[in-house]
Amino acid sequence: MSNITEFIKKNNERYLKELKHFLSYPSISTEPANKKDVLECADYLKSHMEKIGMKNTRVYPTKGHPVVYSEWLDAGADKPTVLIYGHYDVQPVDPVELWTSPPFEAEVRGENLFARGSADDKGQVFIHLKAIEAHLLETKKLPVNIKLLIEGEEEIGSVNLDEFIKKNTELLKCDVIVISDTSMFSKELPALGYALRGLCYMQIDVTGPNRDLHSGQYGGSVENPINSLAEMIAKMKDEDGKILIDGFYDDVVPLSKEEKDNFAKLPFDDKQYAKGLEVDELSGEKGYSTLERIWARPTLDCNGIWGGFTGEGAKTVLPAKASAKISMRLVPNQDPDKIAELFVKFVKKIAPKSIKINVYGQQHGKPWISPINSKWNKAAIKALKEGFGKEPVFMREGGSIPIVFTLEEFLKAPTVLLGFGLPDENAHSPDEHLNLNNFFNGIITSAVFYEELAKA
Ligand code: BES
Ligand code: MN
Ligand code: MN
Repeated sequence: MSNITEFIKKNNERYLKELKHFLSYPSISTEPANKKDVLECADYLKSHMEKIGMKNTRVYPTKGHPVVYSEWLDAGADKPTVLIYGHYDVQPVDPVELWTSPPFEAEVRGENLFARGSADDKGQVFIHLKAIEAHLLETKKLPVNIKLLIEGEEEIGSVNLDEFIKKNTELLKCDVIVISDTSMFSKELPALGYALRGLCYMQIDVTGPNRDLHSGQYGGSVENPINSLAEMIAKMKDEDGKILIDGFYDDVVPLSKEEKDNFAKLPFDDKQYAKGLEVDELSGEKGYSTLERIWARPTLDCNGIWGGFTGEGAKTVLPAKASAKISMRLVPNQDPDKIAELFVKFVKKIAPKSIKINVYGQQHGKPWISPINSKWNKAAIKALKEGFGKEPVFMREGGSIPIVFTLEEFLKAPTVLLGFGLPDENAHSPDEHLNLNNFFNGIITSAVFYEELAKA
């Protein structure tokens, strides 16, 4: 065991205390009421980066929430420069009454730390800060040049980061991009991620009559927008879970036999998975395994639907309006803009003449896949093995990090996904938590990873 590893083990308690403080900022990016909290969180990050010995640390304002940048570039020009990307913003906490402990007062229960942002993504950002600190405290230097890019708008689609990256390609110039904002395969099994799904997020607004009507006086004579919206949504998929939008699958790259075999070898149990979610049966596209469905097949889901009367009791109303939010997870080589067009065309085709519709896009992200055999990935595998004492597996991810595409395109560097969360840690839900063993082992892994990158 190296000195660094020993140092990290001795400091676990302090790390936990500091992480709890970072998690106490309610940095909810989508809530206007939390704007000041987001800013305070950015300021705290800056001061903490300075405290651990990073240099040239700055909070860059954007049209939305600020970007925090910091660097340490004294490893030498012969050493690689590593850009670590993460986000300090978090999702809203609703429904807050379902949290066992307050979301911004981090609490340890068993081997987990419960708080909003613990897994997604403050806990994982902190892993890198502590790995950097361990090197700087122990040896006064880092094995590689490091740049930190921690944004405050990931959960709202990184709305202003594209522009920041495009304007600051020189500042952000690097050899490899590292992102810790994904998951391990399971509690016992570390993993290297090599693919993310894309996203096409749409909204449909349906308008019927010019006002809400008495459903007795008018019912039977005019179209009900909720009924027709429900019918349209039902027409988007068949009983086998196949999506019926014309041309939807045209650009989908089918899974190779090799990848299918690799998925099948992973220790995944449908029954256990269903049990953990308290559903009697799983459901999805026919002809594919659960991992194939989550990682390598596109999906279409209604994320929210509203209209009419939803209060207590009964109100016999024929509503004037109804809306739904529908998102599609995409896989290589589907293009979100093209899918959005196909979606609009399809909805227009199936919409009855008796209503008016408005269909529009909300948020898009391209799918991403990378070669698994790069020297950078090999360095990550070595580090994961040392940090977790286990050979990691390769996995795809069902979620999306759209900015990966922009980062790679403008910085001309490849990405390594080094995730330390777990799929069932309730990211975006009540009782979000982070497994503390993974947090501590993640710090060791990251510290070793920088050493391995220096040799790559
Ligand atoms: N960290 C997640 C993405 C993620 C989670 C990837 C788990 C892989 C595994 C990120 O914070 C997130 O929530 N992304 C959004 C994207 C959206 C806001 C554009 C998502 O996937 O829904
Ligand atoms: Mn995240
Ligand atoms: Mn998220």
